[in-house]
Amino acid sequence: MAYIAPSLLSANFANLYNEIKEIEKGGADYLHLDVMDGNFVPNITFGPPLIKDLRKITSIPFDVHLMIDKPERYIKDFVDAGADILTVHAEATTHLHRTIQEIKSYGIKAGVSLNPASPLSLIEYVLDDLDLILIMTVNPGFGGQSFINSMIDKILKTRKMIDEKDLSILLEIDGGVKLDNALQLSNLGVDILVAGSAIFEANDIRKRTQDFKDLFVK
Ligand code: DX5
Ligand code: ZN
Repeated sequence: MAYIAPSLLSANFANLYNEIKEIEKGGADYLHLDVMDGNFVPNITFGPPLIKDLRKITSIPFDVHLMIDKPERYIKDFVDAGADILTVHAEATTHLHRTIQEIKSYGIKAGVSLNPASPLSLIEYVLDDLDLILIMTVNPGFGGQSFINSMIDKILKTRKMIDEKDLSILLEIDGGVKLDNALQLSNLGVDILVAGSAIFEANDIRKRTQDFKDLFVK
């Protein structure tokens, strides 16, 4: 079983209301919101104002993925906008421990993400404070890229690290998740699967969301 988090990055931004209603009806567990600054990653998306407006039209939990340099500058803005989970990149902040503490001080879940090339050791000493680990399975910045196969070993190692310490950290993966690999990936011990293009580029967004959910109906 894994939760499904459609990534808004691949949605039609002129039709956000309707597309969010479709993933809700399809049973999506989270809405994954990719914030990019054109600096940490070579793409620009949106910031707190859009998230604040979306918060008014849906109660689905917001899984906010910050791909921005020095995310500590904007933690409160994203909390106020309505984030339920706020994930920062370990590579983007010099004082990761402090940044995590700040997120948690606002009473929401704190996540840390790692780029494909980044070692798990970057988060070894913050594990006790984490609610979520986001393993990037593509290089962040764009939707529609192919899953990097060497990340399977990293996912397994992350699962092992969490279980060995008996922690209740959610393990999420992001990038290249499709209907035909989702079950296999969840069987590695993944709790949340992010899927952008696989959901929002489908002709029937609601049905595609349901198809993902149905993979886990025994
Ligand atoms: C990429 C983003 C992803 C993206 C995934 O930097 O973090 O959330 O939307 O897109 P797909 O599912 O199309 O690989
Ligand atoms: Zn993402």
